[in-house]
Amino acid sequence: METVQPPAIGTVSLPSPFVVSPMAGMTDTAFRRLVKRQGGCGLVVSEMVSSEGLVRGIGRTLEYAEYTEEERPVSIQIFGGDPERMAEAARVVEGMGADIVDVNMGCPVPKIAKHHAGCSLMREPRHAAAIIEAMAKAVRIPVTVKMRKGWDETDLTAPEVARRVQDAGAAAIAIHGRTAKQSYTGQADWDFVSAVAAAVQIPVFGSGDCIEPEQVVERLKGGVSGVFVGRGVLRNPWILAQARDLLEGRVPRVVTSQERGEFLLDYIDLLLHDQSQEADGFRHQAPSAAVAEPPARVLGRERWVVNKVRALCSWYTKGLDGGSHLRTRVNAAESLTHLRAIIDEFFSEDGHDGRRMPGGADE
Ligand SMILES: Cc1cc2nc3c(=O)[nH]c(=O)nc-3n(C[C@H](O)[C@H](O)[C@H](O)COP(=O)(O)O)c2cc1C
Repeated sequence: METVQPPAIGTVSLPSPFVVSPMAGMTDTAFRRLVKRQGGCGLVVSEMVSSEGLVRGIGRTLEYAEYTEEERPVSIQIFGGDPERMAEAARVVEGMGADIVDVNMGCPVPKIAKHHAGCSLMREPRHAAAIIEAMAKAVRIPVTVKMRKGWDETDLTAPEVARRVQDAGAAAIAIHGRTAKQSYTGQADWDFVSAVAAAVQIPVFGSGDCIEPEQVVERLKGGVSGVFVGRGVLRNPWILAQARDLLEGRVPRVVTSQERGEFLLDYIDLLLHDQSQEADGFRHQAPSAAVAEPPARVLGRERWVVNKVRALCSWYTKGLDGGSHLRTRVNAAESLTHLRAIIDEFFSEDGHDGRRMPGGADE
């Protein structure tokens, strides 16, 4: 059994080195709570949230930044390119009571990257540092950065950006070992991540391609302070708990078919609950200038929940025996009653017991 000291980010101690990586559209508060409940999770990071939306108090943006007490420690990730607006947005995040504010320097999507935000900041190391400096001066909570290797193979700026943001006051960084140009192709370069980790004094977390709990533990041994897991958590929300089992010398827990089904049903219940009036009392919300317009009112509560579950199932069914069949059925579901029945039926059958099937036929 290994004794691994759980990392700290500034004054925030993480109970485990394994982190739910930020994923737009996926790591909402309901999903984060459910993953946290399975154990092994040291930190959850929100979906990326617009700094402009936070500063202007736009209802939809504020909803993306909501979290609940049981998710702590919780990091809210923001994106933007203007140092003063980013500092102002960091104050909003701090005012909401979040533990950490993270800056997105990894998003390659042109809509984000063309505004000197997201991964385009990897091409502007000085500007990236100016953003962190303004934010670190504005708030007491730790400011962190999530970045990529660089913009493309000819412009691998992560070592420089890491050093500059460290000097500007960043408390930790996470690096996805790919360039913006690669998007999600090729393999994440963990040697590169380890080299950056060795070159700076602040904690460096690695990100990329951990689908099995064994890979999460293996990556932790490569000189990083912790591991961000993204798509692996969407496929298997128990991966962080299983990784901690392995790290502590136990056999990774087996997830039953029933538990897999219950996770989806609980997700539906939490999404519905979060849309209801009485949920407002326990969620941490920023003051809104505009009246918050819940997505449920725009799309209809039921439709919105069905769409969220479909989005999760596009990942959750990968590697599951019969997963593509379930995916097709979920995508055809028209109501929550229908969706619940499909989930009940699928996960009560034999053979869907959540056994991990690396590289399984149903990819
Ligand atoms: C659907 C999806 C949404 C993502 N959204 C974000 C985001 O909002 N902010 C961010 O920093 N990274 C985002 N990422 C990148 C992940 O956090 C992670 O760094 C990347 O997927 C590599 O890790 P993985 O192989 O464990 O998924 C997203 C990834 C996916 C698949």
